[in-house]
Amino acid sequence: MTIDSGSLLAKWDSMFLRTVDPTRERRMEAILGVLGPGSHRPIRVLDLGTGPGPLVARILDRFGGSRVVGVDADPVLLEVGRRALRRHGERVSWVLADLREKDWSSGLRMASFDAAVSSLALHWLEEREIRSLYRDLRRILRDGGRVVTGDFLPSERTRKRSRDPGGASGGDYRAQKEDAAVRAFRVQWTRWWSALEREPTMRSAFREREIRLPGAIPPRRTPGPTDPVTVETHQRSLRDAGFGGTAVAWREDGFRVLVATK
Ligand SMILES: C[S@@+](CC[C@H](N)C(=O)[O-])C[C@H]1O[C@@H](n2cnc3c(N)ncnc32)[C@H](O)[C@@H]1O
Repeated sequence: MTIDSGSLLAKWDSMFLRTVDPTRERRMEAILGVLGPGSHRPIRVLDLGTGPGPLVARILDRFGGSRVVGVDADPVLLEVGRRALRRHGERVSWVLADLREKDWSSGLRMASFDAAVSSLALHWLEEREIRSLYRDLRRILRDGGRVVTGDFLPSERTRKRSRDPGGASGGDYRAQKEDAAVRAFRVQWTRWWSALEREPTMRSAFREREIRLPGAIPPRRTPGPTDPVTVETHQRSLRDAGFGGTAVAWREDGFRVLVATK
């Protein structure tokens, strides 16, 4: 590969951090904190909507004995992750699957996990898809295993407010700042993908992407992050799926890390 996959992964992180995901590092740190104090404790973790594996990289670095499976619907992002984290050998595996499909978990190479984590990914799913996903996770996790959802998870109250243009939504200043962040993100996003598209060794991954995700990510039939499922709905869905004690472990603005235990 003529472009360095490690630096692509680093750029992925900074592209989000500097634009639409300003609390990224603290959210990732909160997710790691839920997983435990670190060291060589062996843990088996599933990362949902892993992208090129920024959270996978952090888990592998922090938990010496860990094994991680990253799941994503995008073959190009998985290929970047595979190359960037090759040094971890068999501790990491990558599974191409659409979390909205019934059989998404059929290709996982481990029978049971200690935790299912996600970062900035589940907001692409609709409520019924989230409900079904959490039911599947209850089956996949060991007893005492945890779901750790780190994402933009607004509360019902703030989501209602932000839909009301006359309400106390934080005012024009905040809206302008958010628009500027989205614009900056789009510029960097296009650059990031263009560099990859020019890379000859990525051609087959792009061909597969064109078949599986014609158009682009996000897949067209998702609601997208403009109207994400609220934290209360996530909590209800987890409880209905049979998870106990759901709690918000970390929060900054509308970003939260939600934890539930089997
Ligand atoms: C904003 S990226 C986040 C990636 C990574 N977790 C991070 O924190 O940088 C959202 C990821 O979710 C994946 N995704 C969206 N919808 C999906 C679906 N239905 N099934 C699997 N992956 C999906 C996308 O391909 C993308 O990699």
